[in-house]
Amino acid sequence: MKLIVANWKMQLGLRASVDLAVSVKAAAAKSSAQVIVCPSFTALDAVGRRLAKSRIALGAQDVFWQAVGAYTGEISPLHLGELGVEYVLVGHSERRALGETDEQVNKKVITSLHAGLTPIICVGETKPERQAGKTALRVARQVKAALKGLQTRAKERLIFAYEPVWAIGSGNSAAMSDIVRVHEHIRRTAMQSVKGIKFKQIQVLYGGSVDGKNAKDFLLHDQIDGLLVGGASMSRASINSIIAIC
Ligand code: PGA
Repeated sequence: MKLIVANWKMQLGLRASVDLAVSVKAAAAKSSAQVIVCPSFTALDAVGRRLAKSRIALGAQDVFWQAVGAYTGEISPLHLGELGVEYVLVGHSERRALGETDEQVNKKVITSLHAGLTPIICVGETKPERQAGKTALRVARQVKAALKGLQTRAKERLIFAYEPVWAIGSGNSAAMSDIVRVHEHIRRTAMQSVKGIKFKQIQVLYGGSVDGKNAKDFLLHDQIDGLLVGGASMSRASINSIIAIC
Protein backbone atom coordinates (compact mmCIF):
# COMPACT_ATOMS: atom_id res chain seq x y z
CA MET A 1 0.00 0.00 0.00
CA LYS A 2 1.42 3.36 -1.02
CA LEU A 3 1.44 6.33 1.33
CA ILE A 4 0.42 9.78 0.08
CA VAL A 5 1.20 12.65 2.44
CA ALA A 6 -0.30 16.05 1.65
CA ASN A 7 1.63 18.95 3.17
CA TRP A 8 -0.51 22.08 3.01
CA LYS A 9 2.25 24.18 4.55
CA MET A 10 1.03 27.63 5.73
CA GLN A 11 -1.02 28.07 2.58
CA LEU A 12 -4.58 27.18 3.53
CA GLY A 13 -6.82 28.68 6.20
CA LEU A 14 -9.56 26.90 8.08
CA ARG A 15 -12.30 26.96 5.45
CA ALA A 16 -10.00 26.08 2.54
CA SER A 17 -8.47 23.21 4.55
CA VAL A 18 -11.85 21.72 5.44
CA ASP A 19 -13.12 22.04 1.85
CA LEU A 20 -10.04 20.37 0.44
CA ALA A 21 -10.18 17.63 3.08
CA VAL A 22 -13.75 16.79 2.08
CA SER A 23 -12.70 16.46 -1.55
CA VAL A 24 -9.66 14.33 -0.67
CA LYS A 25 -11.86 12.12 1.49
CA ALA A 26 -14.03 11.27 -1.49
CA ALA A 27 -10.99 10.46 -3.64
CA ALA A 28 -9.36 8.35 -0.91
CA ALA A 29 -12.51 6.27 -0.47
CA LYS A 30 -11.99 4.92 -4.01
CA SER A 31 -8.25 4.29 -3.68
CA SER A 32 -6.07 1.78 -1.87
CA ALA A 33 -3.62 4.50 -0.84
CA GLN A 34 -3.05 5.42 2.79
CA VAL A 35 -3.58 9.18 2.68
CA ILE A 36 -2.30 11.52 5.39
CA VAL A 37 -3.24 15.21 5.33
CA CYS A 38 -1.13 17.78 7.17
CA PRO A 39 -3.06 21.07 7.49
CA SER A 40 -2.02 24.06 9.60
CA PHE A 41 -2.22 23.52 13.37
CA THR A 42 -5.23 25.83 13.49
CA ALA A 43 -7.17 23.62 11.05
CA LEU A 44 -6.27 20.24 12.59
CA ASP A 45 -9.34 19.98 14.79
CA ALA A 46 -11.89 20.93 12.12
CA VAL A 47 -10.22 18.80 9.43
CA GLY A 48 -9.95 15.87 11.87
CA ARG A 49 -13.69 16.05 12.59
CA ARG A 50 -14.49 16.01 8.88
CA LEU A 51 -12.22 13.01 8.35
CA ALA A 52 -13.58 10.97 11.25
CA LYS A 53 -14.41 7.44 10.14
CA SER A 54 -12.60 7.92 6.83
CA ARG A 55 -9.44 6.13 5.71
CA ILE A 56 -7.48 9.37 5.82
CA ALA A 57 -5.14 9.99 8.73
CA LEU A 58 -4.26 13.35 10.24
CA GLY A 59 -0.71 14.67 10.36
CA ALA A 60 0.84 17.80 11.87
CA GLN A 61 3.55 19.83 10.15
CA ASP A 62 5.76 20.13 13.23
CA VAL A 63 5.83 19.36 16.94
CA PHE A 64 7.78 20.41 20.04
CA TRP A 65 10.31 18.08 21.68
CA GLN A 66 8.80 18.19 25.16
CA ALA A 67 5.45 16.69 26.06
CA VAL A 68 4.45 19.28 28.70
CA GLY A 69 5.95 22.31 30.37
CA ALA A 70 6.41 26.05 30.37
CA TYR A 71 7.10 26.45 26.66
CA THR A 72 4.98 29.35 25.50
CA GLY A 73 3.72 28.93 21.99
CA GLU A 74 5.01 25.41 21.37
CA ILE A 75 2.82 22.43 20.42
CA SER A 76 2.93 19.26 22.50
CA PRO A 77 2.81 15.85 20.81
CA LEU A 78 0.34 14.76 23.48
CA HIS A 79 -1.99 17.62 22.60
CA LEU A 80 -1.74 16.69 18.92
CA GLY A 81 -2.72 13.15 19.87
CA GLU A 82 -5.82 14.50 21.61
CA LEU A 83 -6.92 15.96 18.26
CA GLY A 84 -6.56 12.59 16.57
CA VAL A 85 -3.21 13.38 14.97
CA GLU A 86 -1.27 10.19 14.20
CA TYR A 87 1.67 11.47 12.13
CA VAL A 88 4.01 14.41 12.34
CA LEU A 89 6.45 15.93 9.85
CA VAL A 90 9.83 16.39 11.51
CA GLY A 91 12.79 18.27 10.08
CA HIS A 92 11.13 19.56 6.93
CA SER A 93 13.72 21.58 5.02
CA GLU A 94 11.59 24.70 5.39
CA ARG A 95 11.93 24.31 9.17
CA ARG A 96 15.61 23.50 8.96
CA ALA A 97 16.02 26.68 6.88
CA LEU A 98 14.55 28.59 9.85
CA GLY A 99 17.22 27.19 12.13
CA GLU A 100 16.06 23.72 13.18
CA THR A 101 19.08 21.56 13.94
CA ASP A 102 19.72 17.83 13.63
CA GLU A 103 19.74 17.70 17.42
CA GLN A 104 16.27 19.22 17.65
CA VAL A 105 15.03 16.84 14.96
CA ASN A 106 16.34 13.94 17.05
CA LYS A 107 14.53 15.15 20.18
CA LYS A 108 11.31 15.63 18.21
CA VAL A 109 11.52 12.10 16.78
CA ILE A 110 12.00 10.56 20.23
CA THR A 111 9.27 12.62 21.90
CA SER A 112 6.81 11.97 19.08
CA LEU A 113 7.29 8.22 19.30
CA HIS A 114 6.85 8.34 23.09
CA ALA A 115 3.59 10.19 22.58
CA GLY A 116 2.37 7.55 20.13
CA LEU A 117 2.86 9.63 16.96
CA THR A 118 4.65 8.32 13.88
CA PRO A 119 7.35 10.75 12.71
CA ILE A 120 7.83 11.49 9.03
CA ILE A 121 11.49 12.50 9.07
CA CYS A 122 12.46 14.75 6.18
CA VAL A 123 15.99 14.62 4.83
CA GLY A 124 17.66 15.85 1.68
CA GLU A 125 20.66 17.64 0.25
CA THR A 126 20.95 21.23 -0.99
CA LYS A 127 21.97 22.07 -4.52
CA PRO A 128 25.61 22.90 -3.61
CA GLU A 129 25.85 19.63 -1.65
CA ARG A 130 24.55 17.71 -4.64
CA GLN A 131 26.93 19.47 -7.01
CA ALA A 132 29.82 18.63 -4.69
CA GLY A 133 28.85 14.94 -4.76
CA LYS A 134 27.90 15.00 -1.08
CA THR A 135 24.30 13.79 -1.29
CA ALA A 136 24.90 10.38 0.31
CA LEU A 137 27.04 11.86 3.06
CA ARG A 138 24.56 14.60 3.88
CA VAL A 139 21.54 12.33 3.92
CA ALA A 140 23.28 9.66 6.02
CA ARG A 141 24.33 12.30 8.51
CA GLN A 142 20.76 13.57 8.82
CA VAL A 143 19.35 10.06 9.22
CA LYS A 144 21.92 9.05 11.87
CA ALA A 145 21.44 12.29 13.78
CA ALA A 146 17.65 11.98 13.71
CA LEU A 147 17.82 8.44 15.12
CA LYS A 148 20.54 8.94 17.73
CA GLY A 149 19.80 7.00 20.92
CA LEU A 150 16.51 5.74 19.53
CA GLN A 151 14.98 2.43 20.51
CA THR A 152 11.81 1.38 18.77
CA ARG A 153 9.14 -1.04 19.84
CA ALA A 154 7.90 -3.59 17.34
CA LYS A 155 4.66 -1.75 16.66
CA GLU A 156 6.36 1.58 15.96
CA ARG A 157 7.16 2.82 12.48
CA LEU A 158 9.63 5.31 11.11
CA ILE A 159 8.81 7.11 7.90
CA PHE A 160 11.46 9.02 6.00
CA ALA A 161 10.82 11.49 3.23
CA TYR A 162 13.71 12.02 0.87
CA GLU A 163 13.21 15.58 -0.27
CA PRO A 164 16.14 17.16 -2.10
CA VAL A 165 15.98 20.80 -1.02
CA TRP A 166 16.56 22.00 -4.59
CA ALA A 167 13.60 19.96 -5.85
CA ILE A 168 11.02 21.36 -3.42
CA GLY A 169 8.66 23.80 -5.09
CA SER A 170 11.00 24.13 -8.08
CA GLY A 171 9.11 22.17 -10.72
CA ASN A 172 12.16 19.89 -11.08
CA SER A 173 11.89 16.54 -9.41
CA ALA A 174 14.91 14.33 -8.84
CA ALA A 175 15.85 11.61 -11.33
CA MET A 176 14.46 8.17 -10.59
CA SER A 177 17.90 6.52 -10.46
CA ASP A 178 19.09 9.07 -7.88
CA ILE A 179 15.94 8.66 -5.80
CA VAL A 180 16.24 4.89 -5.75
CA ARG A 181 19.90 5.04 -4.74
CA VAL A 182 19.23 7.51 -1.92
CA HIS A 183 16.20 5.54 -0.70
CA GLU A 184 18.31 2.40 -0.36
CA HIS A 185 20.94 4.41 1.45
CA ILE A 186 18.38 5.87 3.89
CA ARG A 187 16.95 2.45 4.67
CA ARG A 188 20.35 0.88 5.17
CA THR A 189 21.54 3.73 7.38
CA ALA A 190 18.35 3.62 9.46
CA MET A 191 18.59 -0.14 9.94
CA GLN A 192 22.19 0.22 11.07
CA SER A 193 21.30 3.07 13.42
CA VAL A 194 18.42 1.50 15.34
CA LYS A 195 19.16 -1.82 16.99
CA GLY A 196 16.62 -4.52 16.26
CA ILE A 197 14.49 -2.48 13.88
CA LYS A 198 12.82 -4.54 11.17
CA PHE A 199 12.65 -3.83 7.45
CA LYS A 200 8.88 -3.44 7.56
CA GLN A 201 9.04 -0.77 10.29
CA ILE A 202 10.70 1.65 7.87
CA GLN A 203 9.06 3.39 4.92
CA VAL A 204 10.77 5.81 2.58
CA LEU A 205 8.84 8.41 0.60
CA TYR A 206 9.94 10.79 -2.11
CA GLY A 207 9.05 14.49 -2.09
CA GLY A 208 9.98 17.45 -4.25
CA SER A 209 7.87 18.75 -7.16
CA VAL A 210 5.65 15.71 -7.33
CA ASP A 211 2.57 16.42 -9.45
CA GLY A 212 -0.31 14.67 -11.14
CA LYS A 213 1.89 13.90 -14.16
CA ASN A 214 5.07 12.47 -12.63
CA ALA A 215 3.49 10.71 -9.64
CA LYS A 216 2.73 7.53 -11.54
CA ASP A 217 6.36 6.78 -12.38
CA PHE A 218 7.35 7.20 -8.74
CA LEU A 219 4.48 5.10 -7.46
CA LEU A 220 5.27 2.24 -9.82
CA HIS A 221 8.68 1.79 -8.25
CA ASP A 222 9.05 -0.79 -5.45
CA GLN A 223 11.70 1.24 -3.64
CA ILE A 224 9.39 4.22 -3.28
CA ASP A 225 6.84 3.59 -0.54
CA GLY A 226 4.90 6.74 -1.28
CA LEU A 227 5.04 10.49 -1.84
CA LEU A 228 5.17 13.68 0.18
CA VAL A 229 3.36 16.27 -1.87
CA GLY A 230 3.40 20.01 -1.23
CA GLY A 231 2.19 22.37 -3.96
CA ALA A 232 0.23 19.79 -5.95
CA SER A 233 -1.53 18.58 -2.79
CA MET A 234 -3.36 21.89 -2.60
CA SER A 235 -5.00 21.53 -6.01
CA ARG A 236 -8.04 19.25 -5.86
CA ALA A 237 -7.46 17.95 -9.36
CA SER A 238 -3.80 17.12 -8.77
CA ILE A 239 -4.07 15.50 -5.34
CA ASN A 240 -7.13 13.53 -6.34
CA SER A 241 -5.42 12.25 -9.47
CA ILE A 242 -2.33 11.25 -7.46
CA ILE A 243 -4.56 9.35 -5.03
CA ALA A 244 -6.44 7.75 -7.90
CA ILE A 245 -3.18 6.36 -9.36
CA CYS A 246 -2.78 4.26 -6.21
P1 PGA B 1 6.50 20.44 -3.34
O1 PGA B 1 6.81 20.43 -1.76
O2 PGA B 1 5.70 19.23 -3.65
O3 PGA B 1 5.74 21.72 -3.54
O4 PGA B 1 7.82 20.45 -4.04
C1 PGA B 1 7.13 19.25 -1.09
C2 PGA B 1 7.32 19.55 0.37
O5 PGA B 1 7.69 20.66 0.72
O6 PGA B 1 7.10 18.67 1.23
